[in-house]
Amino acid sequence: MSANILVNDLRCESLQNPIGIDTKQPQLSWKLIAKRHGVLQSAYQVQVSKTITWDEFVWDSGKVLSDNSIAVKYVGQALESRQRYFWRVRIWDENDSPSGWSMVAFWEMGLLNPNDWAAHWIEPEQDAAKPEPPINMFQNLGTISPQPDADYARLNPAQYLRKEFSAQKTVAKARIYATAHGIYQLSLNGARIGDIELAPEITAYDSYLQYQTYDVTKMLATGKNVLGAILGDGWYRGRIGLPGDSCQYGDKLALLLKLEIEYEDGSRETIISDESFKSSTGALVYADLFIGERYDATLENTGWDRLGFEDSAWKNVNTANFGYNNLVAQYGEPLRIVQEIKPVAIIKTPNGETVVDLGQNIHGKIRMSVQGTTKTEIVLDHAEMLDADGNFMQQIRGRNKDQRDVYVCKGEDVEVYEPFFTTHGFRYVRITGYPGEPTVDDFIGLVIASDLRESGSFTCSDERINQLQENIRWSQTGNFVSIPTDCPQRERAGFTGDAQVFIPTACFNMDVHAFFTRWLRNLQIEQREDGQVPATVPYWRSYIEMFTPIQGGAHTSAGWGDACIIIPWTLYQSYGDERVLAENYATMLRWLDYVRQEAESGIPERLGELSADARERQKHLWNTGFHFGDWLIPSLTGGYSNPFDAANATKEVVASAFYAYSTELMTQIAAVLGKEDDEQRFAELNEKIRSAFAKEYLGDDGSLPAHYQGMYVMALKMKLMPAEMRLPVTEQLVGLIAENGYRLDTGFVSVPYLLDVLSENGRQDVAYKLLFQTQCPSWLYEVVRGATTIWETWDAIAPNGEVTLASFNHYAFGAVGDWLYRHVAGLDKAQAGYKHIVIHPHPDEHLTHTKATYQSVYGEIVSGWELEDGLLRVDAKIPPNTTATLRLVGANGQLVASELPTTQSGNDLLVEVGSGTYRFEYPYSV
Ligand code: BGC
Repeated sequence: MSANILVNDLRCESLQNPIGIDTKQPQLSWKLIAKRHGVLQSAYQVQVSKTITWDEFVWDSGKVLSDNSIAVKYVGQALESRQRYFWRVRIWDENDSPSGWSMVAFWEMGLLNPNDWAAHWIEPEQDAAKPEPPINMFQNLGTISPQPDADYARLNPAQYLRKEFSAQKTVAKARIYATAHGIYQLSLNGARIGDIELAPEITAYDSYLQYQTYDVTKMLATGKNVLGAILGDGWYRGRIGLPGDSCQYGDKLALLLKLEIEYEDGSRETIISDESFKSSTGALVYADLFIGERYDATLENTGWDRLGFEDSAWKNVNTANFGYNNLVAQYGEPLRIVQEIKPVAIIKTPNGETVVDLGQNIHGKIRMSVQGTTKTEIVLDHAEMLDADGNFMQQIRGRNKDQRDVYVCKGEDVEVYEPFFTTHGFRYVRITGYPGEPTVDDFIGLVIASDLRESGSFTCSDERINQLQENIRWSQTGNFVSIPTDCPQRERAGFTGDAQVFIPTACFNMDVHAFFTRWLRNLQIEQREDGQVPATVPYWRSYIEMFTPIQGGAHTSAGWGDACIIIPWTLYQSYGDERVLAENYATMLRWLDYVRQEAESGIPERLGELSADARERQKHLWNTGFHFGDWLIPSLTGGYSNPFDAANATKEVVASAFYAYSTELMTQIAAVLGKEDDEQRFAELNEKIRSAFAKEYLGDDGSLPAHYQGMYVMALKMKLMPAEMRLPVTEQLVGLIAENGYRLDTGFVSVPYLLDVLSENGRQDVAYKLLFQTQCPSWLYEVVRGATTIWETWDAIAPNGEVTLASFNHYAFGAVGDWLYRHVAGLDKAQAGYKHIVIHPHPDEHLTHTKATYQSVYGEIVSGWELEDGLLRVDAKIPPNTTATLRLVGANGQLVASELPTTQSGNDLLVEVGSGTYRFEYPYSV
């Protein structure tokens, strides 16, 4: 009997049909589609073959009794370089009825061995870039691009490379494997290859440099062809990070490339990067990833990327021996233009300037159409904000933050310019020198981000909250750019703290499984010998130089380094992937070992002589050293003017709280991985930290010496008190919030837990009040002020209208998104990967309806509620191969008996269900 189930959405390493991967035992997943309710998988069979005719299997799992459909590890024959593998799946349902075979999917391997390359790294003849002198931006926070013009003179030209070759027979398959020092774009016979941006992206290049694989089968001509490449500075030698230093990884651009052609007759041909390539500079006079680029179309080497171009005047390239050991296949989704935005207006500002308004703050670039006479120079300056008077302003801290692109017209009909190797964080573009009057049709905003699949949506009856959700999503798009960046204009650095704060929200909005898996692999690489996990990953030299002096030589901070535990744990929770825990386990242990040593050896000086008891207790408190604390608490830092005040006032409590939290998570991680000794050890340590904390810091009235909202939030979240003290601690928190006029006063690391600890401790009313607050500081204050992204500081536009030097695209405070999905709409889980789902809406008087959707690894989950005429309607959708508890708030005694098994829990009714859609309706008042 057939199970009437469709097996679909086959994914390999969370991607559909990836090419050029190098995971030796890829993880496979699929979803089930069925009309009926209560579908479960009881067994599966996976078949993998080199041929689509299934002549021979490299792996046939046979019927495996298992409900695993989300992370099935390939355990067949060793996978071979370049080989494409076809695969299909069938399953058996809970009645042991089989499904049919799924549609066929595939993955294709990249180059698995260094020997496969046999290409040379080539460097165009070029002047080595001169490193910029370091400048400690944390001590120069007011600096804004001091000498733009002088700086431009020191920027480097892009390099163009070309090679002609012939492919004489009919091509069956052709692949290019390529990477660069710098960023690169390839072309074949004048056409751009692929649509990915800023390859090879940013990773810890010295040990992890990605190469990309391109299918160029259809682009090759029979006969002569010409391969072109352009190289720009990118992260490799451009001016990156807050300090804006150049040459982080090297001072010369280079290319590594291999084209492999397979002809229909079975013969092969290979073109490699070698001395036969020619190189030149060209129209890209300079191209810096952050500052901007200058494209002088009059300098174009017309036809350089096509056949027959006379390149005898071009320079040679030199081969260089950088080896292949740091090469890794692109893992996860590449960067792409993920959206195009038409401007909403062209503004004439009060001081007479022309400014394009995209209506949305983005990360990306602008495409411009222009018709001008030869040498007409158009300057495009990018900014996130206009000032209080509506004039264009440059408001990004740091040197080298100009965000200025310049286009010099060739003098043709209509010319279209789109920057190659630069991106900006902006909503507004000031246009200077444009011939005639530009219109909105002359510009398009191009949003550049890692091309992640949208996985969630949250909507409700309040448009301001919907806008908040939109702003969160936009800040995620603007900052999930190869790595999770702090902001897309000033620093673009992979701040570990920001990432851990935001990851639960990120997992709802988009499929970030592969994205974070890759970043964590880089985190492992960047972990210091002594276990410290740096504040940024990758850990650029400029950050080492900037941070270590202010951090007393340290490289990390509580809440930042803990990302190595919190992030894998959250990924495991969201995607059910145990491998991510196993892969990062050694890093976690080393991190906690570092923290333990710091805690045991460091005793705050102010304590003086200690009793034996107190000394013992101090061992379990991580209360010394540098920390960012509850970064950017508004009442302490006054915007960004003194960020370290909040850090200093809160670091003791924050560091000990994270020590407790990370050991708590480690207890659970060790349990998942079956490491019983560690589980036991961390459980004991966690207990000791929590009781030491309570003894050291907690007053009888529930007060803490650092009397700030965030500290109570942390204490409650990390359970740093005996159970009977939860109430007084909650009262302290609520007291502070009330004193502050129901406005929040939390920094980066406490904000994710603020609304949770209130609602979990009986004060959902206060949580909702904070959510709906519109006075500064609050989430809706930003919305009311017209924000289209999440700001770095709550008062980035001060209540008096002043536009400050903060970033307007920092996702950290958007961490509330998780609570919207999970608490307001009630889309939650009781088992990793949403294997067991909990639907638990929390209606409130501020709203009449909400709906959350989430594309889980098992399929779509929906949780929604609507309150109308005293009736509460709850809608739920549960995907196959999962089960769910629907927790119907206030339904006990109200619901007409359902056929489904129910239990009572206080005023609520719990209904146990399998897959399917469900609707319940019952009298309810808020
Ligand atoms: C970044 C942050 C970061 C903080 C603390 C700032 O410059 O923009 O978001 O977490 O430094 O290191």
